[in-house]
Amino acid sequence: MKFFIDTANVDEIRAAHDMGLVDGVTTNPSLVAKTGRNFHEVLTEIAALVDGPISAEVVALDTEGMLAEARELIKLHPKNIVIKVPMTPAGLKATRQLADEGIPVNMTLAFSPLQALLAAKAGAAYISPFVGRLDDVGHLGMEGVEQIRTIFDNYGFTTEIIVASVRSPLHVLNAALIGADICTIPYGVLLQLAKHPLTDTGIERFLADWQKSQV
Ligand code: E4P
Repeated sequence: MKFFIDTANVDEIRAAHDMGLVDGVTTNPSLVAKTGRNFHEVLTEIAALVDGPISAEVVALDTEGMLAEARELIKLHPKNIVIKVPMTPAGLKATRQLADEGIPVNMTLAFSPLQALLAAKAGAAYISPFVGRLDDVGHLGMEGVEQIRTIFDNYGFTTEIIVASVRSPLHVLNAALIGADICTIPYGVLLQLAKHPLTDTGIERFLADWQKSQV
């Protein structure tokens, strides 16, 4: 499973990248707003750091507006920028058009397997089911991912599943067990993955025993 990092914070991306844990990056307007920085400036900096897909989201709600924004965003790094488009009829139309032009699209704000099926049929390179936001309202987000995996495998769709809106290590574990192509992970959760209390106590014990051998 590929690891994308779900942040627009360049320091976090650099730290995760240095641990070899960044196959790509996802951003959204809220994540960029948290940095307090200019959208294009942040994306350019990320693109200089990471050689992998970097999702940049459009904010227009109509197809023409989405296409115009996409054509500007793709110029920032034609090889690695992926256009993030919301799952709406206008978004599906933009996705079809961009896919026909060879521009990869990540369809975002997906909450059902049928939305994922539409994204695949429209030619999206990626679909982002938001598991955490579904859990927040009492639905099992990961159940939808399992169904998307089955549907894509049934018909040989090559659209990659990005498990998004990840809140905990359990989401990452289940994404890997289901066979999602990608999990996009906030930096804090990434650090949690490396943590285990037995690792900490193990290190303490080895250090104490090592001291005993320094006679
Ligand atoms: C990534 O593509 C999504 O925009 C992000 O994972 C959403 O996460 P949130 O539900 O925690 O805002």
